[in-house]
Amino acid sequence: MTSLSILFVCLGNICRSPLAEGILRHLTSEEGRDQEFVIDSAGTGGWHIGSPPDSRAIATAAGHGIDISQQKARKVSTADFDRFDLILALDRNNLRALKEIAPPACRARTALFSTQAFGTVEDVPDPYYGGAADFEAVYRLLYRGCALIAAVPNDGPVS
Ligand code: 4NP
Repeated sequence: MTSLSILFVCLGNICRSPLAEGILRHLTSEEGRDQEFVIDSAGTGGWHIGSPPDSRAIATAAGHGIDISQQKARKVSTADFDRFDLILALDRNNLRALKEIAPPACRARTALFSTQAFGTVEDVPDPYYGGAADFEAVYRLLYRGCALIAAVPNDGPVS
């Protein structure tokens, strides 16, 4: 039975949020808890709609035994705010963008990834203009955060 539906949101939905989606799915399925979660990702920008994740994100995940190659980028929509319990922005710019389009009353709680995971206010840096080491650093940050998110799936509200 699903206990928590989570949508990860970055800018392009080809680097950070597909990695977060793949990592959380991997962690919950490793624990045999996949039925408890609905996990998805989207972007606030629409440039890459329909595209697979960035090849460097695919390679980074594959290096850790996670296949994200079948994901397809999509843009976040207002309907998502009633489809998901929790919408996690990967950085503060995207959190602002989400708050701008959030319906006044909706199902989803919208928060920063770092706040939900670590209780901090920090951006997951955009690796798009970086190199393999930047993707690896993002992977590690997301992995640590997703492990915490999976461990406490029904954490209380975060402002
Ligand atoms: P993401 O990275 O938000 O982590 O998917 C980016 C991907 C594409 C662009 C910017 C950031 N872009 O400008 O196309």
